[in-house]
Amino acid sequence: MKIIDTPLPGGGIGWSAMDNREIEAVANVLNHPGRLFRYPGEGWQSQCQLFEQEVCQKLGAKHALMVASGTCALTLCLSAYGIGPGDEVIVPAYTYISTASAVTNAGAVPVIADIDDSLGLDPADVERKITEYTKAVIAVHMQGVPGRVGALREICKKRGIRLIEDACQAIGSKYRGEYTGMGSDAFAWSLNFYKVITCGEGGVFFTNDDDAFIRGVYAHDPGSPMWKTGLSRGAKLAPYTQMGMRGNEVCAAIARVQFDKLDAILGKTRPLKKHLLSCLDAPKNYALQHVDDPEGDCGISVTLIGRDKESTAGMVKLMAEQGLAIGSLYNEGFPDRHVYTYWEAILQKHSPTPAGYPWNDPNYHGGVEYSPDMCQNTLDILARSMRFSFNLNLQPEHVEKVAKVINYADSNL
Ligand SMILES: Cc1ncc(COP(=O)(O)O)c(C=O)c1O
Repeated sequence: MKIIDTPLPGGGIGWSAMDNREIEAVANVLNHPGRLFRYPGEGWQSQCQLFEQEVCQKLGAKHALMVASGTCALTLCLSAYGIGPGDEVIVPAYTYISTASAVTNAGAVPVIADIDDSLGLDPADVERKITEYTKAVIAVHMQGVPGRVGALREICKKRGIRLIEDACQAIGSKYRGEYTGMGSDAFAWSLNFYKVITCGEGGVFFTNDDDAFIRGVYAHDPGSPMWKTGLSRGAKLAPYTQMGMRGNEVCAAIARVQFDKLDAILGKTRPLKKHLLSCLDAPKNYALQHVDDPEGDCGISVTLIGRDKESTAGMVKLMAEQGLAIGSLYNEGFPDRHVYTYWEAILQKHSPTPAGYPWNDPNYHGGVEYSPDMCQNTLDILARSMRFSFNLNLQPEHVEKVAKVINYADSNL
């Protein structure tokens, strides 16, 4: 008999917490069709505006802007600081391709750096990748776990480079007591279907810098200065136009309810992860992912990093035999756009126009080159990484079984 003899409950994070409250919030918006716009009118506040106020208040952030997606929010993080043609931005080799496409959206050139056992950027490789053209580093916090923010902050400060945080997968996470991103120049959330909280599609651009915020506002809506009650009212900076990324009221209404549930969601996932960790025997054939600040971790995933590829394959097989299907994060088969080798648009420098921007921009004097084997450490770590994701339908007895399978596989290898 298998240790896990009946399938574990399925489900997700944010979307699994949805109930009548989200439905009512949407109905309320639709009951006032004349208010279906993110810029408020006389006597009423928009859902986007309320959501922005609520997130700022909880995080202690100065500015937040609801936009159409996490990719948009990341693009704004760069445009807000005038980062674009001629500039390089360092991104990790393990992140959703959007982190790199935000860089090309802004007109800058992505430079890909290795991750380490935190599954986030390796500070040593970041230092190696900095050139005279580097203007920013984007730290990405995958699966709810903040990376080595402290070390990255020091490097960026020392080298006069912006630190941007991609917290798209880590909403609600904290680093040294403050919400992830708060100590950096700007940060982004995604509210897409897979995220800690979701409204289907959406994103939030955050910054504590007044001028950067206004630049982000201009960049997200070419008409923003026109709206009398708009976000850029009274701005001293000259307007410019970039893209249409406005947030929408229906999504914002859902996001507000989901945001209200954030603590409850993390109040479920964090204890589940702690419980799983407490049930694990001392590992022999794997190490746990390095978590720089365990208290700030969202607790939505646990990653075991195997000793080598062979023992990882052995553990994966033994776990599967006991009913736990967790594979390695990189297996040279599934074209997972979270791994740089599958970012063909970037690696092959594909551009929407024959001019080949941003790489061929005359302002760009760097010489970045890409190849599928350029980040061997990343591929090696991902090939040895076995991840279990927590969902809101799991109970302590389920994670006890998961721990039992892991212990079994580790001791029977
Ligand atoms: C790490 C990371 N960055 C950026 C994004 C982009 O977010 P969106 O899909 O909302 O554009 C995602 C979304 O999957 C992500 O996981």
